[in-house]
Amino acid sequence: MSLNRINPTQTPAWIKLNNHYNNIKNEHLRSMFASDAKRAEKFTLQWNDFLFDYSKNRIDESTMELLMQLANEVSLEDSIKKYFSGDAINETEGRAVLHTALRSKETDNVRVNGVNVMPEVYEVKAHIKEFTNAVINGELKGYTGKPFTDVVNIGIGGSDLGPAMVTEALKYYKNHLSVHFVSNVDGDHVNEVLKTLDPETTLFVVVSKTFTTQETLSNATTIKKWFLRHATQQDIAKHFAAVSTNSEKIAEFGIDAANVFPMWDWVGGRFSLWSAVGLTIALAVGYDNFNDMLKGANEADIHFKETDFSENIPVIMALLSVWYNNFYGAETEAIIPYTQYLSRFSAYLQQGIMESNGKSVDRSGNVVGYETGTIIWGEPGTNSQHAFFQLIHQGTKLIPTDFIGYKHSLHGDKGHHNKLMANFFAQTEALMNGKTKEEVVSELQAKNTDQEEIDALTPFKVFEGNKPTNTILIDKLTPKSLGALIAFYEHKIFVQGVIWNIYSYDQWGVELGKQLAGTILKDIESSELSNHDSSTLRLLQYFKK
Ligand code: F6P
Repeated sequence: MSLNRINPTQTPAWIKLNNHYNNIKNEHLRSMFASDAKRAEKFTLQWNDFLFDYSKNRIDESTMELLMQLANEVSLEDSIKKYFSGDAINETEGRAVLHTALRSKETDNVRVNGVNVMPEVYEVKAHIKEFTNAVINGELKGYTGKPFTDVVNIGIGGSDLGPAMVTEALKYYKNHLSVHFVSNVDGDHVNEVLKTLDPETTLFVVVSKTFTTQETLSNATTIKKWFLRHATQQDIAKHFAAVSTNSEKIAEFGIDAANVFPMWDWVGGRFSLWSAVGLTIALAVGYDNFNDMLKGANEADIHFKETDFSENIPVIMALLSVWYNNFYGAETEAIIPYTQYLSRFSAYLQQGIMESNGKSVDRSGNVVGYETGTIIWGEPGTNSQHAFFQLIHQGTKLIPTDFIGYKHSLHGDKGHHNKLMANFFAQTEALMNGKTKEEVVSELQAKNTDQEEIDALTPFKVFEGNKPTNTILIDKLTPKSLGALIAFYEHKIFVQGVIWNIYSYDQWGVELGKQLAGTILKDIESSELSNHDSSTLRLLQYFKK
């Protein structure tokens, strides 16, 4: 069954939210905290080893009630049921959206077109386990009999970003294998990686859901040629593995059937790290850690599926984002993890969030009359504080920000961790409170600044504050907590897509550029140029000269 087609702006809740926004928009978070001693308690949730404090948002109890009403009026509950039960909610591609099945329990029954997919899922998981164990413990060897030392993941988009983000995030849990990623069609990328490798001890994992992606096939072909300069055709079977839905194309490429890991069209590329697309993750940190990540995600799925909206972390994350995007006119959101391990987290979420919800046509095919997908960006704290935080604090734009931090560091260096976390807490406090004119003046007076200078400097030193933040404080960065964190953001994407009445699981917008690149490549490689606008034509002539 398909998702409902409800224009959110036509719901009674939306109209009430609009009025409510006009009443609340000038209220300062400082006074909201001052007038309610229980505010932090009221707007904090605890789940497993997660603490989610959303009290530093420009909301009150009626905001949350109205947002919940909106969720009900767009039939979110019914949509969640359809999402988890394998309905073809990716309607423009006629597919179910079931990355959640990849982390479900073996005994669960998840049906696609009437067939329970769990036996297949677990069969592939068993293959991942067996293969990765054999590579890690040196049982599987390269063509000269040496154990593998390096693994290269060849893929792009969802076939690269997830494994790249997670292998970095779980670096602490890593084994002896060095992992590398080749994604860009830029030949300098692949050549820089090849430069460091020994063909005798390197395993190549070609990851492509479709196995038709230009970048991945070009890189895989270049790597195969490089490999064959050192080894023979039959050695390919020992050094190449593939993950894809397209078994025919894999066979054409010449990869041994024993090293082929299937995936399914009901797993979207940007949500695929839980499938065999995560093979590089399992190679880097071992199958058990990979599986723990899946278990963490499964627990988050259960929370999302079964918890009342008023205590449901991803639902609240999504509703708050809608509140700022559609009522405050905020265009972007920052995601700032206070751990260097999550340095690729916002890049990963950029694909998840922007490829999913960057849509301007609703589920009935009409152009939407409201804002949809938010722009996502971010870098780890504290580095980001010394780079772009100035704009969040004192710029003209409202940038709701997620702060993600951990109670315990992995290496246990208390001195560093206390400093890191002091900054983490200080930033959300500063963004919320700001600094008033009176505070600035008294600070300057305390330093014996003369009145003329005080008058001149004060406007620049005032911080308006009132900047919304979410604080996600997790016990420790483990495979399990990482899995849950990623799953929360995945469900946030889903909820927002439901509210905005858009299809979150297709990506037609990336096709046009691919098509034109095909035509232009022919132009570049032939002596004639086809029809283009005058700018493109001149650029091509200049490039070819
Ligand atoms: O171009 C976008 C996209 O289709 C993504 O959605 C996907 O993750 C990426 O390309 C790679 O696709 P594939 O895994 O089929 O090579």
